[in-house]
Amino acid sequence: MWGMIATWRMALEGVEKGVHLLREQNSCGDALEAAIKEVEDFPYYKSVGYGGLPNEEMEVELDAAYMDGSTMDFGAVAAIRDFANPISVARALSKEKVNNMLVGEGAAKYAAVNGFERKNMLTERAKHYYKKRRKELSEAERPYDGHDTVGVVSLDTHQQMCAGTSTSGLFMKRRGRVGDSPICGSGCYVDSEIGGAAATGLGEDLMKGCISYEIVRKMKEGMTPQQACEAAVNKLDERLRKQRGAAGDLSVVAMNANGEWGCATNIETFSVVVCSEKQPLSVYRVSRDSDGNCKRELADQAWIDEYVAQRSKPLE
Ligand code: GLY
Repeated sequence: MWGMIATWRMALEGVEKGVHLLREQNSCGDALEAAIKEVEDFPYYKSVGYGGLPNEEMEVELDAAYMDGSTMDFGAVAAIRDFANPISVARALSKEKVNNMLVGEGAAKYAAVNGFERKNMLTERAKHYYKKRRKELSEAERPYDGHDTVGVVSLDTHQQMCAGTSTSGLFMKRRGRVGDSPICGSGCYVDSEIGGAAATGLGEDLMKGCISYEIVRKMKEGMTPQQACEAAVNKLDERLRKQRGAAGDLSVVAMNANGEWGCATNIETFSVVVCSEKQPLSVYRVSRDSDGNCKRELADQAWIDEYVAQRSKPLE
């Protein structure tokens, strides 16, 4: 069995590349890295890699994580600047004995010493959004907008699994702010004997539930990936609303060691990309009904195309 699941329609082309590698019996790690790099390299996605939106000082600070579900190796970078593919740096760090998570200048130094590609990740388009938002912010206090982390779980024909994430985090975040994505158990978690999960949404809230670890733990107790995703999102959402009056955006994907998958969200606009030996490459639009049940419908080609058209349309 092989399979891959990812957050958001933006991962479609990446998953297509990744599953091509899985079908050819390549490792889950190579497939996941290829999938996430594809998203990082695409300039029109505003929340991952090149073209990601900057912090309040107009700097693009990127977070990424990689976990190997067989060795439990984990590597991550946080607030790294000027490197093309944070996921590749995170994966390399996962193989180190210690110093597996590096931040800021330390992460950049490691990437430079190890020959990773340098790149100015701030595009003219991202600068445009920054200037526009600066103006809006002087009129209304609403710094949070955008949360589309790419999170991937990958299962290969050797029954090995891995999980990873990559994000530019919150638009207009403080310099040095780090969300859930590079945090083990929050942004992603995987165990090849059970399955893996990855998250997207408001990092500050996702972290409060260690949500990816929680989903894997629930799968270990016997839940299907779908049951585990829904239970984890609904429980955290409920708790946050009860204790704090509101919950941030929480969306998750999971796949188990048999290639069965699940997803859940507390918002109206989530989407996932999935493909496995049993399931053709598909994009689903995901939301939640008033009883807390996950609703998912297959996205049609028009919606899939519109997603990219919206993001790459000429700037006003
Ligand atoms: N989930 C991405 C972030 O909050 O940074």
